[in-house]
Amino acid sequence: MAFPVHRPRRLRVSEGIRRMVRETRLSVDQLIQPFFVIYGGDVARPVSSMPGVFQFSIDRLLPQVKEVWEMGIPAVLLFGIPEKKDPVGSGAYDPNGIIQQAVRAIKEEVPDILVITDVCLCEYTDHGHCGVVRGKEILNDPTLELLCKEALSHVEAGADIVAPSDMMDGRVGAIRKALDEAGFTCVSILSYAVKYASAFYGPFRDAAESAPQFGDRRSYQMDPCNVREAIKEAHLDLEEGADILMVKPALPYLDVIRVIRDTFPQTPLAAYNVSGEYSLLKAAARLGWVDEERVMMEMLLAIKRAGADMIITYFAKEAASLLGS
Ligand code: PBG
Repeated sequence: MAFPVHRPRRLRVSEGIRRMVRETRLSVDQLIQPFFVIYGGDVARPVSSMPGVFQFSIDRLLPQVKEVWEMGIPAVLLFGIPEKKDPVGSGAYDPNGIIQQAVRAIKEEVPDILVITDVCLCEYTDHGHCGVVRGKEILNDPTLELLCKEALSHVEAGADIVAPSDMMDGRVGAIRKALDEAGFTCVSILSYAVKYASAFYGPFRDAAESAPQFGDRRSYQMDPCNVREAIKEAHLDLEEGADILMVKPALPYLDVIRVIRDTFPQTPLAAYNVSGEYSLLKAAARLGWVDEERVMMEMLLAIKRAGADMIITYFAKEAASLLGS
């Protein structure tokens, strides 16, 4: 029975009915706000390619975290910029490093907010790669030990969840073992399980000062052409003990989010709405070409509709204020 018996427009005639039949909802409960932390006092240095995003010193970060918490956002994701970089990224696992200090300060000021830390070496190495380097090669197994030290130092400082983003093989299992042996059996791992070698990370590398000084990340991050391989990566990370999976970037990979959601229905899934996705919209909005708020909400909704539970996004605060109003 088709038209005129069926008229899909009937379910669109009023806001009341549209609200009632809505299939996907955005909620502040599932937004995660990233922050960049830097040494110093009273620093709020704007990131030029990411309008509205700053590198904050810890004293300036704390009021931001408090504000985010008061808006109902349950979690922050921290990236650190060290004072000095070296070939083995010592700043990443220094018990008194920038992230370790920031986590302690947040846990003192805003104890209930979930603190997620990015576990990777690229912000801390002078060559900008996510692992230990020999010649032009990025070494896998020697990197694992450093990542374990980094994760453990974050958790000792009070991190609730660690998020390894390096894409070395076996890192989730190695970190799980290190945390368990130290008694942190209830700290979760949010794995950047499906992370593509993407040009959409460009602005982030300005923000985190982490661009590779030679070559690129294609020997460890995934080829954008592949989706079956995404299932393999997710599967391995789950076997190794990942609690939450992530697909990254989000918008150009909605199909991948859907595949991971359907293949692993029992596992919470996060998507990272990355820096380039943010900057594209900010730029178009500045030119007056699109309605920023509406496009932002539509993008976040699309990520949820594709199957993500949580969304890591630089828009978290802006979206939360719209959702709350
Ligand atoms: C660190 C890391 C990156 C991002 C998150 N963690 C950059 C990269 O892999 O080069 C990108 C996030 C973004 O673009 O917003 N490895």
